[in-house]
Amino acid sequence: MDVDSAIGVFDSGVGGLTVLRALHERLPHEDTIYLGDTARVPYGTRSPATVTRYALGNARFLVERGIKLLVVACNTVSAESLPALREAFDVPVLGVVEPGARAAAARAHGRPVGVIGTPGTIAAGAYQRSLKAIAPELIVTARACPLFVPLAEEGWTDGEVPRLVAEKYLAPFRDERIGTLVLGCTHYPLLAEVIQTALPDTALVDSARATAATVEDELRGRGLLRSSGAAAHEVYVTDLPASFHRVAERFLGRPLAHLEQVDVTV
Ligand code: DGL
Repeated sequence: MDVDSAIGVFDSGVGGLTVLRALHERLPHEDTIYLGDTARVPYGTRSPATVTRYALGNARFLVERGIKLLVVACNTVSAESLPALREAFDVPVLGVVEPGARAAAARAHGRPVGVIGTPGTIAAGAYQRSLKAIAPELIVTARACPLFVPLAEEGWTDGEVPRLVAEKYLAPFRDERIGTLVLGCTHYPLLAEVIQTALPDTALVDSARATAATVEDELRGRGLLRSSGAAAHEVYVTDLPASFHRVAERFLGRPLAHLEQVDVTV
C-alpha cells in the first residue's frame, strides 16, 4: 500500500458513481478504480447474507488490484456487510453510513433527524444506530423509498411523477418536523431537488460528500494522501446493459473514460 496506489470503490451498480463523483471533486489527484456490480443489482431488496457474499467478491476484485483504501459506496452493503469486509481484507475499509450519520448529527441542532434508503438499509438499522451512538438524545425516524432508485436511473428526476412519489414517501417527515434528512442511498442525490421541494425546511445531508471528506481525513491520517499529479480513473462493471453509458454519465456528471466488463465470480 503506498501513496500512489488507487482508491478502490464499489457499488451494486451505477449509483455509486455519485460517491465517485464526490471523491473526484474532493481529491482530484487520487487514482480511482470503480467496480459496479451491474449484473447483480439491485442489492437493496436482497437478504443480508447474499449482499455480503456479493460484497466480498467485489472487494476481492479491487484488493487484487493493489488499492490503498476501499470505499464501500453502496449504502446497503455499508449497512449490512462492513464487519465481514474488514475481517476479510487488510486494506482500510470505509462505508458511507458513518460519515453520513456524523454529518447529520452535526447539523441536527436538537431537531429530529430523518433517514431514507433502500428497504435493506432501513431494515438493517445502521443509520439509526450510528446516529444514536453519536447523539443518544436524537429522535431518528427512517423510511425506505424504493421507487427513487428506478426514477433516478430513468432520469425521471423532475416533474409531476417524482414530485408525487416524493410527496407520498416524505410527507410523514413533515409531520415529524425533522430538521435534517440523510440521503442514505447512492441514487438519492439525483432527486435532491424534488426531495427538497417536499421538505422545504429540512437540511439534506448527502452521504456521498460526507464520505469523500472522511476518505480525505483517513488518507491524510495514514500518510497516504496524494496532493499533486494527474489522476487516472478506471471503471469496471459486471454487465454492460445498452443503457449503461447514458445512465452512468447522468450519475457521474461526465462521460466515462476507461470502461471494461469483468466477471468477479471466478
Ligand atoms: N446502491 C444501492 C444503495 O446505495 C442502491 C441500489 C441497489 O438497491 O442496489 O443502497
